[in-house]
Amino acid sequence: MGAVKIKDGFYWVGAVDWNVRDFHGYTTHRGSTYNAYLLTDSEKTVLFDTVKAGFFETLMTHIREVIGNPERIDYLVINHIEPDHGGAIARVVEAVKPEKIFCTRNARLGMIGYFHREDWPFVEVKTGDELKTGTRTIKFIETPMVHWPDSMVSYIPEDKILISQDAFGEHYATSTRFDDEANFCELFQEVAKYYANIVLPFSPQVQKVLKAIQDLKLEIEMICPDHGVIWRRHVKEIVEAYDRWSRYEAKPRVLVIYDTMWASTEMMAWAVYEGAVKEGVEAELFKLSVSDETELMAEVLEAKGLAFGSPTLNNGLLPTVAGFTTYMKGLRPRKKLGFSFGSYGWSGEAVKHLNKIFEETKTELVHEGFKVKYRPTVEDLKQCEELGRLLARRVKEACGV
Ligand code: FEO
Repeated sequence: MGAVKIKDGFYWVGAVDWNVRDFHGYTTHRGSTYNAYLLTDSEKTVLFDTVKAGFFETLMTHIREVIGNPERIDYLVINHIEPDHGGAIARVVEAVKPEKIFCTRNARLGMIGYFHREDWPFVEVKTGDELKTGTRTIKFIETPMVHWPDSMVSYIPEDKILISQDAFGEHYATSTRFDDEANFCELFQEVAKYYANIVLPFSPQVQKVLKAIQDLKLEIEMICPDHGVIWRRHVKEIVEAYDRWSRYEAKPRVLVIYDTMWASTEMMAWAVYEGAVKEGVEAELFKLSVSDETELMAEVLEAKGLAFGSPTLNNGLLPTVAGFTTYMKGLRPRKKLGFSFGSYGWSGEAVKHLNKIFEETKTELVHEGFKVKYRPTVEDLKQCEELGRLLARRVKEACGV
């Protein structure tokens, strides 16, 4: 697609990956982009981040379009070393021969770990350090664990541009580069999905970064992340969304997430769902064997109430339920309300296991859990409906509706 001018002297030179569908287990139905940015100032030319290894030639083509010879680049700024951005670093260093590579201490150690080149011209930077490039200044702000220990962001005050690595990004391949040129609904679906599956475990650190941005009084006209679109029209909205998600604010919505062996837990799930709907909240039903876990996490992010159902299999959970709840637990959702349910034939431990997951995610239980032997009776299903209603009422109270 060619390099794209973002502002005078500042260009997108990254790559669009239309075909990626599995990003280390994250399903990317809409592809992704690996963004890199080139600053051509009066004294120095700077490349911010690189691309996934297979897109090295695309990056070089885009750089050549702007400055001809890539060796005109003086400095590399490495905001984040994960291989979707850092995979091409070794070849870029070879092609560019940078005078200096600016990065955090953890990024230097990480690059030595990946590339085994202690001889590269690393310059470690910390929050508050600055670099003059002629008419511009680059300010560095460390953002540890948003979302790797090496992470930092770069800010150019003269242009009011924040180069934010993974933060505020999304896996979304588009032929245009700016937020106002993309489909807004699709864009926000992908941003939420990205937050839920990548950033959510580090929400306390996101709050610290947002506070640092406030304390430093950074004026931001444009956010240039390492994935997806550049924010220029909806900067306020994306920052507010990050603030809301990192405070674990959720919507008055109930998710019924389950799987089933011989349809008994499924009958219970439907009754729970019916109860929640009758109580007047938005409710959604997800059978795990036919659901996409990555998409489902975006739903979990936004829902206050969770009802989990599983039959007991070999004293444990059904594997699909065990798999999703393990994945979800690692992403550390917080401040949810929930309860568990499920059918059994002999011993019935599934509810106990689900309650343990709720305990580990600090979910407030609205009921100790409901289990049914073999097939639910009409009375059992009424009880499930009542539990759906109870969860919905508690969700409405908690969300103030
Ligand atoms: Fe997009 Fe954490 O790499």
